[in-house]
Amino acid sequence: MSEYTIVASVDEVQDGSTRLVEVDDRLVILSRIGDDYYCIDDICTHDGGTLSDGPHEGCEIACPRHGARFDLRTGKALSMPATQDTASHQVKVENGSIMIRLNES
Ligand code: FES
Repeated sequence: MSEYTIVASVDEVQDGSTRLVEVDDRLVILSRIGDDYYCIDDICTHDGGTLSDGPHEGCEIACPRHGARFDLRTGKALSMPATQDTASHQVKVENGSIMIRLNES
């Protein structure tokens, strides 16, 4: 399993925002919802669309290609045409730094 990687400071990520970050050569989406931070893969499980290019609102992000929606907190697929969840990853905050550790997948 990988180690935690610092990707941003808490001051840089506003509530309700997402940002694309790279961890261990993998592009992932960091999001902040309230005071909590989450991370999912930047990959739509329908046909590999780039989720970070899609619109997001609340806890959901939509794939810009065919509109499948995913939960930013868990990676759960919420609507067709996606039927499989995208991967989610570990996030923690230490000393004002947001850190991500990739899950195996
Ligand atoms: S590639 Fe994302 S909905 Fe089709």
